[in-house]
This record gives sequence, C-alpha cells and structure tokens, in this order.
Amino acid sequence: MKVTVVGAGNVGATCAQIVAEKNIVQEVVLLDIKEGVSEGKSLDLWQTAPVNYYDTRLVGSTNDYSKTADSEVVVITSGVPRKPGMSRDDLISINAGIVKSVTENVVKYSPKAKIIIVSNPLDVMTYAAFATAKKPKNEVMGMAGILDTARYRAFLAEALDVSPRDIQALLMGGHGDTMVPLPRYTTVSGIPVTELIDKEKLDAIVERTKKGGGELVNLMGTSAWYAPGSAAAQMVEAIVMDQKRIFPCCVKLDGEYGLNDMFVGSPVKLGKNGVEEILEVALNEEEKEMLHSSAKAVKGVMDVLDGMNIL
Ligand code: NAI
Ligand code: 2OP
Repeated sequence: MKVTVVGAGNVGATCAQIVAEKNIVQEVVLLDIKEGVSEGKSLDLWQTAPVNYYDTRLVGSTNDYSKTADSEVVVITSGVPRKPGMSRDDLISINAGIVKSVTENVVKYSPKAKIIIVSNPLDVMTYAAFATAKKPKNEVMGMAGILDTARYRAFLAEALDVSPRDIQALLMGGHGDTMVPLPRYTTVSGIPVTELIDKEKLDAIVERTKKGGGELVNLMGTSAWYAPGSAAAQMVEAIVMDQKRIFPCCVKLDGEYGLNDMFVGSPVKLGKNGVEEILEVALNEEEKEMLHSSAKAVKGVMDVLDGMNIL
C-alpha cells in the first residue's frame, strides 16, 4: 500500500516521517516542487529506518505525479504557511491555486485515493479540493480538529497535572479563532472535566486553544509542524488500517447540525472508505450558536474564494 504526501516542507516531511515510523504501509511518496528537496528528505528518512526499525520505503519526487500512482491516501500540505501578522485567510488566493493544481494531479494518478487536506485556510482549502476532485464527499476531508483538540488536551493535562492520554475531548467548527471546543464533551478518563477544574481556568484554556496556532506563529515566525504532521499521520493510519476511529475532521455537511453545503469540523468515523459516518452529537443552544457563527466565518471565506474564480 502506498501513501503520498504532497509538500515536503515542515508539516509534510513530519507527516511522512511519522507514517513511515508507524510501519503501516509499504511506501510513502513525498512530492514537492522544489528540485531535490523531497528526494533528499526521503533519502534521509530511509536512512533513519535502520535506526528506528521500520520497513516503509521512502520515495522522493520533484513534481512527478506518476510516482504517486495508485496511492491509497494522499495528504496535501503544499502551500504557504502563516507568517507573523498574517491570518489563515490571507493565504487564500495563493494556496487555493496550489491546492487546485495538486488535486487535479492527485486525482489523475490516484482516482481512488482518500484525500486529506492540511493547507490553510483549512476548511476553505478542503472545499477547494472537493470542488476540484469531483469525488464522493467521504473521500475528501481536512485535518484540523485532531490538532486543535490536541492543543486543548495538552493545556488541560498541564493544568490538571494528568497524562494527556487520559483527556478525551471534542471540538467542532472551523480551523480558526471561531473554533468551538466543547467542555461538555470533555472528560478525564470518563470524569467530566467541569468537575475537576474551575470555570475561570477552563475558560482560559478554551481561549488559549482557539488562538493556539497564532501562539506558535508568534514564537517561531512560522506555523507549527510536529503536532500538525502527527495529526495528519493519525488520520492516514485510521484509514489504511480501517480503524473506525472517531475524530473531529473537516467534512462536507449536508444538513447535519443544520448546516448545508458547508465544510467545517465535526466528529466523524474514519475507516478504509475515508469518512464513513458523520456523528451528530446533541448541542445546546449556546454551542449551536457558536458552531453556526464559526460556519458563517468559513462561509465568508468560501464566498471570497468563489469570487476569485480560481476553482
Ligand atoms: P512549508 O513552507 O514548510 O512547506 C510547504 C511546502 O509546499 C514547501 O516545501 C513548498 O515547496 C511546497 N509547495 C508549494 N507549492 C507546491 C506545489 N504546487 N506542489 C508541491 N509542493 C508545493 O509549510 P508548512 O509549515 O509545511 O505548512 C504547509 C501548509 O499547512 C500551510 O498552508 C500551513 O498554513 C498549513 N498548516 C495547516 C495546519 C492545519 O491544522 N490544517 C497546521 C499547520 C500548517
Ligand atoms: C496551526 O493551527 C497555522 O493552522 C496552523 O498551527
């Protein structure tokens, strides 16, 4: 089985490394437009195999999609990352053009691939890939919810001094400052988090989570890659291993949560067919309002993209 990662930058290379280390597919193809970069990183990762004990073959490609043929899953990370002062939405015109051309090539060589978008602005780039790919909606999805939830879980684990493994949480909506962490669906090994932390601290963690991407951009001058690459690799694993895992992912909603023709984060089941189910959890009025306002923000950017006539 083959997995392709398009974009051999920070997130793409990290994703390729983690997929390779999981030892779950025979081959990972890393593709980039920069001459030699993906070949070099693939060779470096292949030379890591004897040290870290994996068999996954790594293949680099400078924009030659024939090497990606018949991939089971393709992760698209190609694009420009956020710089300080830039919002995710600033990236729209550059990244939409890149996502469109990459998706056309991906579909040409791997018509059955499940496509995972990472490029920002995430929800709108997932829409761009879906509109370009003309594939069933279960085969095109975006990675953001696992990352945003991981940030939320990490902050909670630190505040409660517990293992991050024991924090289970749900977060919905767009990948931006309007995202909707859901404390009512957050537990520590089954214990509602609201019983373990006072409201003020929890509210501060929710706010920090919403701005989690920006916090890292301000620290590093570019956006994060370890957690994003790992999160995308976790989605790849769920699909290639047919794990039926429940994760928040960006998917096309057609009526769920009262949203139509919208791409936002929702809990889904991931298995060999990609998005096998969209789970509709009960939201109270406040949560529903936050989700709808997040969806409205995404829709605004979708409309801007539509107006650019790129797709
Ligand atoms: P990076 O700049 O390190 O890597 C991007 C790579 O894409 C570069 O190597 C570049 O040469 C390549 N590329 C550009 N155009 C291409 C094309 N047409 N075909 C193939 N490759 C092409 O950026 P980084 O940090 O890896 O971020 C990648 C994207 O992921 C950005 O848009 C960033 O905003 C987004 N991101 C999304 C996250 C999420 O939660 N969804 C989290 C972190 C980053
Ligand atoms: C992140 O959340 C910038 O989307 C990127 O780290």
